Amino acid sequence: SQRKFFVIGNWKMNVDKSRIDSIVKFMTAASLDPTTEAVVGCPSCYLSYARQQLPNNIGVAAQNCYKVAKGNFSGEISAAMIEDCGCEWVILGHPERRTIFHEPDDLIREKVTHALKSGLKVVACVCETKEDRDEGRTWQVLEAQMASLASSISDWSRVVIAFEALWASNTGILATNNQVQEVLSQLRQWLRHNVSHSVADTTRIIYAGSVSSDNCQQMARLADLDGFLVGSAALRTDIIDIINARG
Ligand code: G3H
Repeated sequence: SQRKFFVIGNWKMNVDKSRIDSIVKFMTAASLDPTTEAVVGCPSCYLSYARQQLPNNIGVAAQNCYKVAKGNFSGEISAAMIEDCGCEWVILGHPERRTIFHEPDDLIREKVTHALKSGLKVVACVCETKEDRDEGRTWQVLEAQMASLASSISDWSRVVIAFEALWASNTGILATNNQVQEVLSQLRQWLRHNVSHSVADTTRIIYAGSVSSDNCQQMARLADLDGFLVGSAALRTDIIDIINARG
């Protein structure tokens, strides 16, 4: 494939320095498939620390940032600050930002525009809820999110699209391979029809929702899957198996 496998282990708000030390230790000791691009999603207060501790073959992403470079926005961080911490990635529109913090499509779009313009690479997330799936509006919801994101993106080479089945995150319910492949292929078709053939062929589209060492190898073979956005398993040595899932 012309798309490098991409695995991002998102620590969410679940680490402190000592937990980061232990994760760094097992990630550094492991042999990681060099054909996978591996990144961790780190809380903003530890971005510099994680960047200093981790080897250069593992990227560091912030989990959010604001839509302008600086100003009176207490509690926010900017793309420039993330870069100043030595990091090159940011996750935007994470399902937890969309649902718990009610970030609307427009705000996420503005954040993506600004982050890309500032030189960051972006993991841009789209998601569906259980209600969306139960009521048969999965594609409608995802298409609206994709259309909004795409309007903010000119350089697709610095974007990874992450699809999360929210109903399969920390619920004990797993998405089937067919369910995952169906959505990922729809997302790629959308890019083909609405952006370009080359963007559809080259953009990494990854899956999120209870990915673990138990299900990653099977899913890694899906035609339109280019990697994973991993939550809870990123705190455990599972992340090694997930990075190496194509091996
Ligand atoms: O950022 C990660 C996603 O929210 C998935 O989390 O692997 O714990 O389901 P999970």
